[in-house]
Amino acid sequence: MRPEGTVVREGLTDILVPGLHSVHGPGKIQGAVFFNEQMAFNRDVSVMLLRSAGRGLTVADAMAATGSRSVRIANEVPGTEVTANDISSDAVAYIDANIELNGLDNCESSNMNMHSLFAERSFDYVDLDPFGSPAPFTQSAIRGCRRGGILAITATDTAPLAGAHAAKCRRRYQSEPVRGYMCHEGGLRILICSIARELAKFDRGMRPLLSFYADHYFRTYIRVEEGAEAADRALGRLGYLQYDKDTLERSISYEKDPDHQYGPFWIGPLHDKDFLRGMSAEGLAEEKRASKYLDLWRNEIDTEVFVYDMSELSSHTKLSPPKIDAFMDHLSQHGRASKSHVSPSSFKTDIPLRELLPLYEEFSPDSRTHSL
Ligand SMILES: C[S@@+](CC[C@H](N)C(=O)[O-])C[C@H]1O[C@@H](n2cnc3c(N)ncnc32)[C@H](O)[C@@H]1O
Repeated sequence: MRPEGTVVREGLTDILVPGLHSVHGPGKIQGAVFFNEQMAFNRDVSVMLLRSAGRGLTVADAMAATGSRSVRIANEVPGTEVTANDISSDAVAYIDANIELNGLDNCESSNMNMHSLFAERSFDYVDLDPFGSPAPFTQSAIRGCRRGGILAITATDTAPLAGAHAAKCRRRYQSEPVRGYMCHEGGLRILICSIARELAKFDRGMRPLLSFYADHYFRTYIRVEEGAEAADRALGRLGYLQYDKDTLERSISYEKDPDHQYGPFWIGPLHDKDFLRGMSAEGLAEEKRASKYLDLWRNEIDTEVFVYDMSELSSHTKLSPPKIDAFMDHLSQHGRASKSHVSPSSFKTDIPLRELLPLYEEFSPDSRTHSL
């Protein structure tokens, strides 16, 4: 019997979801089966990424709930063979209904504990979208990921990763989180670091294809690389951060020392720029938003420096912030600079702080020099 609910259209796909479901925010468990409308963008990005990842891929949606992501991938990414798995039989009733609703012959449901599923089968693409932290599930997801495959991992435990619950971050991720304006970049890099460390246990390395913070969650897509050398290379890209909130001085060290107390973080690139070049937001549910993010990710510079924020510079210098786009153009005359996707007021630059602060002061609307 078809479970109760309403049909929503997301992208090119119809999805039967429980009448009672989350619309905004982190998403609460409301009905028997979870669905959050706000994650449409997150599912869009999976579709967009898989469209550029090659044909004939086997996909495992390890924690599929209604199967929303699974059916979107099966319906919108030609050539995929999708397994939509969930431990809950109530969830599988929705998955089956959604496969039928979209007339899909390239999507199957599975009612297993994901740990058992990945002990038995492996896939080219493994998606992990748990409630809260992915940490208890990452090892199994790695087992279920084929040679050279892609791991896609969501973390909604923003408070620990971004430093609001530091003790929990230490327990889940064995990292010291950073608070303040760098907290979201820090959280994302702790998540990636934890995946690199898990992969290394299997003599596997990694390269992030795309990683981001949006709404209330972190998300990363990792290309798995095989072999001990690849694992060592990835571990070599973990590092520690020093940050002085009074002076805004920050630096990275690949060794832990008394000054560099935050981390470890993944210090390597967040995205594979060549890979991003092949992606397109056309036809997605939130095409405009996806296209805006795609632009930000493509242009974001991946220096070994964490983000600055206009508000951080403004409260430090006691000068009003200039318009960020104009300031980026100004900085680009002195070094590399770009906006960052983590917030509309954040940016990255390789210009040293001792040069950056005078450039900000000179460009602030309060500054006499600039207004003359
Ligand atoms: C956040 S929801 C997934 C949302 C879904 N990916 C979407 O886009 O709508 C997490 C799901 O994980 C399932 N789950 C929890 N533990 C599991 C396990 N060990 N194996 C498989 N599924 C599990 C829950 O039943 C729940 O449906």
